[in-house]
Amino acid sequence: MTQILITGGAGFIGSHTCLVLLEAGHQLVVLDNFANSSPEALKRVARLAGPAAAGRLQVIEGDIRDPADLERAFAAGVAAGAPIQAVIHFAGLKAVGESVAEPLRYWDVNVTGSQQLLAAMVKHGCRTLVFSSSATLYGYPDSVPIPEAAPIRPINPYGHTKAAVERMLADLVASEAGWRIASLRYFNPVGAHPSGCIGEDPNGIPNNLFPFISQVAVGRREQVQVFGGDWPTPDGTGVRDYIHVMDLAEGHLAALEAMLAGGDQLLTLNLGSGQGHSVLEVIEAFAAACGHPIPYVMASRREGDAAITVADPAEAQRQLGWQTRRSLKDICCDGWLWQSSNPNGYG
Ligand code: NAD
Ligand code: WQD
Repeated sequence: MTQILITGGAGFIGSHTCLVLLEAGHQLVVLDNFANSSPEALKRVARLAGPAAAGRLQVIEGDIRDPADLERAFAAGVAAGAPIQAVIHFAGLKAVGESVAEPLRYWDVNVTGSQQLLAAMVKHGCRTLVFSSSATLYGYPDSVPIPEAAPIRPINPYGHTKAAVERMLADLVASEAGWRIASLRYFNPVGAHPSGCIGEDPNGIPNNLFPFISQVAVGRREQVQVFGGDWPTPDGTGVRDYIHVMDLAEGHLAALEAMLAGGDQLLTLNLGSGQGHSVLEVIEAFAAACGHPIPYVMASRREGDAAITVADPAEAQRQLGWQTRRSLKDICCDGWLWQSSNPNGYG
């Protein structure tokens, strides 16, 4: 059993990962300021994990930018009988458009926040980290599927902050021995836990396709706008690599265990399925899952979009023995169960 600090553990990916880690027997301290999440998510994680496992989950409301809050999180591990041995760092801001409007807030939370976290880790002698990076780093890729060696060319402030943190991690690993870091570049995380009890609950109008479709399906919104029907793709709509959030959560467990078992390293891995699906394919798959058509209209292209982004996931398979197991159908069925059982999210 290992004591792990999970920053941003109440969020979409964090909550599903907390459940997988509890089920694997780990002890968790979650540090989250609930800027984009609800404490209810972790209450449900505790319920799903069962009473025995729930005793291994501590939740601390606090901000990764505040050294006093980080101290409280590290102290909580010690108080529970096991100092924190590893960190999974999800906390951050992730909305591309908002990052264009408020770049300083994004640099503050994503970059300064990561720097404060790393300083606290050094102070407490903890040098094992799994970091939430993003495929957004690749910008407009030269070719697909995209390997990890593809050029890093972010095209928005959000992407620049992720690139900056990856740079900071590389500098740290080069500066002293002892670091074991996995930087995971997620493609398009979607879906929900198959119980329908936890899932994605965005604030306001969803920026992303999948939660938008879900809200149309449940009657919260009228229709999906399809951003472009003239892309150079088989049906003219954008193609993405959608990864079930439970596959992603299991990828974190695999990366964490590899870091805990291995020597000094900086491992950078794509987490994706390697399969591309178009906007229209996702709309159709969701309609099949919910049992009624999803109204949509064709609209103009969204600024900053690429035609196709799909992961080359071979390195994650080689390094971690991990690959996605769930299909687009699973994604839509689980996403629909979550949305239909919780039409207003966590409420
Ligand atoms: P999310 O917003 O649901 O979760 C982020 C969590 O961090 C939230 O619970 C939020 O309250 C918390 N948080 C934000 N600022 C904080 C702060 N200053 N201190 C403490 N907690 C703070 O997002 P998510 O989809 O679960 O994403 C998790 C991570 O994965 C993020 O770093 C994101 O950039 C990255 N990522 C997400 C996607 C995606 O499409 N969802 C893709 C690639 C990478
Ligand atoms: C998917 C496809 C759209 C909404 C974003 C971030 C990226 C990463 C994952 C964090 C595209 C189309 C969308 C809609 C549509 N997040 N679309 N109508 O842009 O691939 O990636 O989330 O790291 O950084 O940029 O995801 O879900 O917004 O779009 O037609 O209402 O759906 O044009 O082809 P994207 P998305």
